[in-house]
Amino acid sequence: MSRRAVIQSIGHALPTKVLTNTDLEKLIDTSDEWIVQRTGIRERRVCEGPIEGTGWLALNASREAVDRSGIDPMDIGLVLCGTVSGDYIWPSTACMVQDQIGAKHAGAFDVSAACAGFIYALSNAAAMVTSGQIDHALVIGVDCLSKQVNWEDRSTAILFGDGAGAVMLSAMEDTDRGLLGTVLLSDGSGGKFICIDVGGSRYPWGSEQAIGKREKITMMGNEVYRFAVQSMGDACCKVLDRVGMTPDEIDLFVPHQANIRIIESSAKRLGLPPEKVFLNVHKYGNTSAGSIPLGLYEAEAEGKLKKGMTVLTVGFGAGLVWGANVIRW
Ligand code: ACO
Repeated sequence: MSRRAVIQSIGHALPTKVLTNTDLEKLIDTSDEWIVQRTGIRERRVCEGPIEGTGWLALNASREAVDRSGIDPMDIGLVLCGTVSGDYIWPSTACMVQDQIGAKHAGAFDVSAACAGFIYALSNAAAMVTSGQIDHALVIGVDCLSKQVNWEDRSTAILFGDGAGAVMLSAMEDTDRGLLGTVLLSDGSGGKFICIDVGGSRYPWGSEQAIGKREKITMMGNEVYRFAVQSMGDACCKVLDRVGMTPDEIDLFVPHQANIRIIESSAKRLGLPPEKVFLNVHKYGNTSAGSIPLGLYEAEAEGKLKKGMTVLTVGFGAGLVWGANVIRW
């Protein structure tokens, strides 16, 4: 009998504050027309005040996933959180969630894979479930990059929003559902293309070394764009090859929502028609690790993703990292 890691339930969380392109026109030298044309983004959600942030989003998404799964938090063996914007450098966001939901028997840690955080976290949690090490894992993808953005930098301020998604992943026998295949890839030589200098041990906050270094997100947009187009297609082809499927066997494509042009170019390379490509980048912008689980959540809520369907997810991000998962829902 083969043991599979199956997504039992999904939850999500978004801040209520909407920041439109028109709002951004008042802050920086940009226009709604430019942003829509170059990225497809019309608005994004941003956290407000001292309470809203990564931990708050992660907890709300997790509570929804746990409630909808019907699983007792005491039976969860792992809380795994993909994020690069935790409330603190440490302790981890996963530990905070573990405590707040009462998962008293769970291990908990964060995965740092930027916008591919959920892809990486799901892949690792599924390996622990299928190996028999644990029966249930709560897997979260969350980021609050609005707090890491330089709101005076028009090349990045237009791109990001805040959000989270979480899934309950459980062991099942005799099923064709579950994570069918995964591919995780990286190229650290591209780390300089999107990064934050200050805050780690190289340039600690308030230190002499940090003077003149970048405290907020800096990005070489064209380099990241080129990498994204190449890596998304690359990861999709590799994971399909691994599971022995062709693109026409995919029912729904839920890619990382960074830029509509990047998504369209990956869909074109795979030969996927628009009705199989899930999009919400226009509403939320790039929510980093929150993007893919938020997409899965909305696709299910809109009836586009149903039990038994085969979904291809793919992401890329700072690191550089990229990866893809094929899931039978
Ligand atoms: N509004 C108006 N004009 C702008 C803006 C703006 N917000 N930003 C840049 N411009 C200008 C530039 O100054 C430039 O002007 P110039 O020709 O006079 O020099 C012109 O527009 C073109 O700029 P480009 O940077 O070449 O624009 P491009 O078409 O590449 O689009 C973008 C920029 C949208 C950032 C694109 O490069 C992109 O999407 N890159 C990928 C970014 C991404 O996905 N990052 C997330 C990584 S994932 C993670 O881990 C967080």
